[in-house]
Amino acid sequence: MISAKRWWVSMAAVTACVGWLCSCGKGKPSDGRPEAGGEAPAPAAARWTIGMSQCNLGEPWRVQMNADIKAEAEQHPDIEVIYKDAQNDSLKQKSQVEEFVSAGVNLIIISPKEAAPLTPPVAQAVQKGIPVIVLDRRVLGDEYTCFIGADNVRIGRAAGKWIAAKLGGRGKVVELKGLMTSTPGQDRNSGFREGIRGSGIEVIFEADMKWLEPDARKEMESALARFQAIDLVYAHNDPGAHGAYLAAKAAGREKEMLFVGIDALPHEGQAYVRQGILAASFEYPTGGREAILTALELLQGRTVEKEITLGSRFFTPENIAGGGEAIE
Ligand code: FRU
Repeated sequence: MISAKRWWVSMAAVTACVGWLCSCGKGKPSDGRPEAGGEAPAPAAARWTIGMSQCNLGEPWRVQMNADIKAEAEQHPDIEVIYKDAQNDSLKQKSQVEEFVSAGVNLIIISPKEAAPLTPPVAQAVQKGIPVIVLDRRVLGDEYTCFIGADNVRIGRAAGKWIAAKLGGRGKVVELKGLMTSTPGQDRNSGFREGIRGSGIEVIFEADMKWLEPDARKEMESALARFQAIDLVYAHNDPGAHGAYLAAKAAGREKEMLFVGIDALPHEGQAYVRQGILAASFEYPTGGREAILTALELLQGRTVEKEITLGSRFFTPENIAGGGEAIE
């Protein structure tokens, strides 16, 4: 139970901080908030402020996550979302969480860059009574309020099984891994290895491309230089698969092998499947909408499941017209 005195002190702090947060947001259109101005009357002050720390906005998938959050948040005049972009810097993201805490936001949503460095600030926010929704990439341990994301081990395993079947049970594969200090990278790797276990699939080259297309392209250039025979590239995201494709195309070898990625955004992975660049893309939903709906539940004092697991589909040239297929 919160005492009346503490409640008033907190409310005063929240009011002061909301003012501060609003002033911080001004003049920063890239943070995802609509710019003030025009003829529209000033909206009524929101009841709750949510701080959202995004690990970077350099990748289409993260831009989509913020857009999904914004689209849902706009349906609820009770909330205002303050967006921060950590620009792929864990230290910066740690400070952002700390800033949200000292500003007294009502709830934090974080999509953390890396698990270990973001674990303490998330735990500290929870200890101070601020609910934290961790989205897509995990922190270590269980000191957070709710985790929302698809099951990356399951996606990796489905990709492994699909690849083994597609290659007729044997073949030479390059694995381009996402940042291995982030949990989706670890899980997409372990799930994949499980999926190909017992088959004749051999991983002949693996490298950490840190989720980045230019890094994937460079790593693929090394793989191409070392190996004359490559049957397929499994990349932990679609930008990685596309970077590998560009490297193979530059070497005149893109028709010798298949490319498989993860994310399946309509305008990225699904488009690559339609264009014949990718043999398959496995969907990784952003969870932006679910994060806002869950935040509202928490702000209204209701309890939510600690783990909210989102479903996933996969797309191939054969099934894409029908909307893809659900993964097992
Ligand atoms: C974007 C991204 C996605 C990937 C997700 C994993 O930063 O690399 O491509 O699916 O992060 O957290």
